[in-house]
Amino acid sequence: MGIPQPAYYIFKCEQSAPPGMPKPSCVTPQTQDIFQHLASTLMQQGVMATVQPIRSSCLNRCSAGPVMLVEPGHTMYAGLTKEKIERIVTEHIIGGNVVEEYLIDSEMWDEPISPADMKKQMGM
Ligand code: FES
Repeated sequence: MGIPQPAYYIFKCEQSAPPGMPKPSCVTPQTQDIFQHLASTLMQQGVMATVQPIRSSCLNRCSAGPVMLVEPGHTMYAGLTKEKIERIVTEHIIGGNVVEEYLIDSEMWDEPISPADMKKQMGM
């Protein structure tokens, strides 16, 4: 038997905007320890070996930040807090049920376009 793949990858946006920039960002002084809280929650729950948290760059949904993407599933969570992280780990990552009330607004997260269709749209 080989080394098992992770069951989940969690991409937490770790982009911060320089002070004074009008564009919102996912990391501010108030939210800067959310990634660490995600990692320690996974550790406390004993699932770190099968869930890989990843610090990502901007996921292009800055106005809904802090955001994180759970794969597989293309599940995008928005407006994160430490409390929300704990519930997502317990109910979604361990329990298998997406926490619907923390999802990004569906207007901001519509169905994906396949790369082949994207090429067609671009006339390439
Ligand atoms: S800064 Fe996090 S999505 Fe853009």
